[in-house]
Parts: sequence; C-alpha cells; structure tokens
Amino acid sequence: MSPLSLISALTINADTEEFSFRLDLSRSESFPSHRFSCVDDKFHADIRYSTYQVPQNAAHLQLKLGDCLGFGATGTVYSAHISNSLSDLSPPVPQELIVKFARLNHCRSLAREAWIYNCLDENQRLTGTVVPRCYGFFTSKLTESGVDYTTSSSSELPFELPWSIYEFDRDPHRDDILHDDFDDEVVRPQTWNPGQTITKDSSPWNLWTPDPDDPLVAVLLLEKGGQRYTDFDDRDPLVREDVELVCEDLEFAGIAHNDFRMPNLIRAPLATSVCRRHKRVHKWNIIDFNQAWPLDLSVENFPRDTNAVLNSRYRSGYFYGWQ
Ligand SMILES: Nc1ncnc2c1ncn2[C@@H]1O[C@H](COP(=O)(O)OP(=O)(O)O)[C@@H](O)[C@H]1O
Ligand SMILES: [Mg+2]
Repeated sequence: MSPLSLISALTINADTEEFSFRLDLSRSESFPSHRFSCVDDKFHADIRYSTYQVPQNAAHLQLKLGDCLGFGATGTVYSAHISNSLSDLSPPVPQELIVKFARLNHCRSLAREAWIYNCLDENQRLTGTVVPRCYGFFTSKLTESGVDYTTSSSSELPFELPWSIYEFDRDPHRDDILHDDFDDEVVRPQTWNPGQTITKDSSPWNLWTPDPDDPLVAVLLLEKGGQRYTDFDDRDPLVREDVELVCEDLEFAGIAHNDFRMPNLIRAPLATSVCRRHKRVHKWNIIDFNQAWPLDLSVENFPRDTNAVLNSRYRSGYFYGWQ
C-alpha cells in the first residue's frame, strides 16, 4: 500500500519557546499540473493529469513538533515525532517525520508540490528511492481551529509561527504564478470535455488566493532526510556519481524540477529503498517540487527535444546559486 493512503487526519501539537498551539488538519486534494510538451513548447490540458483520491477514514496521526530544519520562500520545515500508537499501519510509518508548512500566501504552491509527490508515487514508484516518501497533504482553516494567526515574520529564525509570511516576499498578498497558469500557453484538445475529472482547469486551487481574514494553513508530511548538499559533498566523486543517477531517475519519470539547487538536494532518509533502475540505495534525495511539471515521454521526442527541459543541470551556476 502507498504511504499516501495511510493517513486521513493530522493533529500537530507544538510547545516550543517560540509558540504553542494545537492544530487539527484533514487531507486535502492536491493541485494537478498541465502536461508540458517539448513538441510545441506549450502546456497541454490532459485528462490523465488529474487529482488523486484522498483517503477517507484512514489513520489519525498525532504529531509533536520539533526543531525547524530549514526554510525557503514557500515554506518552513520542522521535524515532528509521532505521539500516538500506529503500530498496525503497513507499510510502517517512521517515528520521526517532517512537516512542511506553507507560508499563509503559498498554500496553492504547496498543493502543486503535493501533486508531484502523488504523481511520482503512483506512476513511477520513485517516492522512497530518489524523493522522500510522502504521507499526504493536509489543510486547516485557522479561524476554525482557534489558533492565533498573526502573520508578521522576520527573515531570521525563529519565525513567529511556522506559517508566517516571509518578510521579503515579493507579494505577501498572493501566491506565486505557476508556469502553467498562462492561458495563452495552454493547448486544449478540440473536444475537451473532462467531465467529472478534476484537472488543472477545474481544480479549486486554480482560483485560490490567500484570505487574510480567513487564513488557510497547508502542510505536506514527508519522510525525514538528512543534511543538505554542501560544497564539501560537491568535491566527492562518489557523491557526484550518485546525484547524477538520482537526476536520471527523475528525468526518466518525465518530471522537470525547474528549481534544482543545493538546498533542494538532501541526504536520503534512513529507510530509502533500492532503486530498481540502478540496483542501489541512493544516498541523495531531491525535494521541493512546487515549480515542477510533468511530461509524457511516450509522446515526446526523447531524448533529443526533452533534454533541455528535463535536465536538472546539476553543478550548473544555478545549482550553486550563482545565477
Ligand atoms: N524531507 C526533508 N528532510 C530533511 N530536511 C528537509 C526535508 N524537506 C525539507 N528540508 C529542509 O528544509 C529546507 C526547505 O525545504 P523546501 O522544501 O526546499 O522549502 P521551500 O519550498 O520553501 O524552498 C530544505 O532546504 C532542507 O534543508
Ligand atoms: Mg527549497
């Protein structure tokens, strides 16, 4: 069974020096992407790229929030320990996970990231080998949960709250525009009738904007990996070889990451499984998929045309943060 089917509700208890809260969240639908095609360099509305089922009446996980492990423009990431007994779940859930909180204006971006994890899990079984296992995407209305939702933030840790909006956000009142949001770049089949299927066009996330009077918190629950890639790691030929192979797995899955930089490459979780393509346990994992999009390699001219789009450009200037 997929780790994405195990949990339908989540309670996060936090009691740290910075904040104290109890937040109840439930599983939410992720945000499908249009399919990109290198044949015409456009996005395509495609019924096969749609929402995934969220489990009902599955386990209710209780978490105790731990330390902040990192942050970026979209979210803040905390370690968390499971505090209720879930010994009967299969596959077993590790005792320690990570919670990625979307900043209040970036729930839509996190919903997209969640969809990419879903896609990698369902179609390529890559979660647990080259990306961390994902245990679901959850949301909660702060007004209904009785949690304080002050949104001020500083650029330094500790943040006032895990969902605080970034002080230097380009636009604190809206989420990022995603690559497949531009309607004139989207091709729809002549007889486009998705019916009940929820694709990018009909997803409720499509029109979502942050509401300061009724804020939504969104979190992604992932397996915990290790430290980020450093300049020291970059000098090790064995590390470089392994990362090349991890990138190859993502390329063969037809996922263009679009933000492959050092902070988005971490040491693989302890329970990483053997990669079927490379017959080894990769030591590195790729994270942070909110700018990613899928390609269908069976309709592309692979590898001639797709190389530029799928290539993660490992060790490029962008990877090192120089450009
Ligand atoms: N699964 C994970 N295990 C361990 N650390 C993580 C994990 N996910 C994220 N992190 C840490 O949190 C940081 C921010 O996470 P990321 O997903 O890149 O957020 P953002 O989208 O805001 O850039 C990462 O650079 C990394 O240090
Ligand atoms: Mg990041």
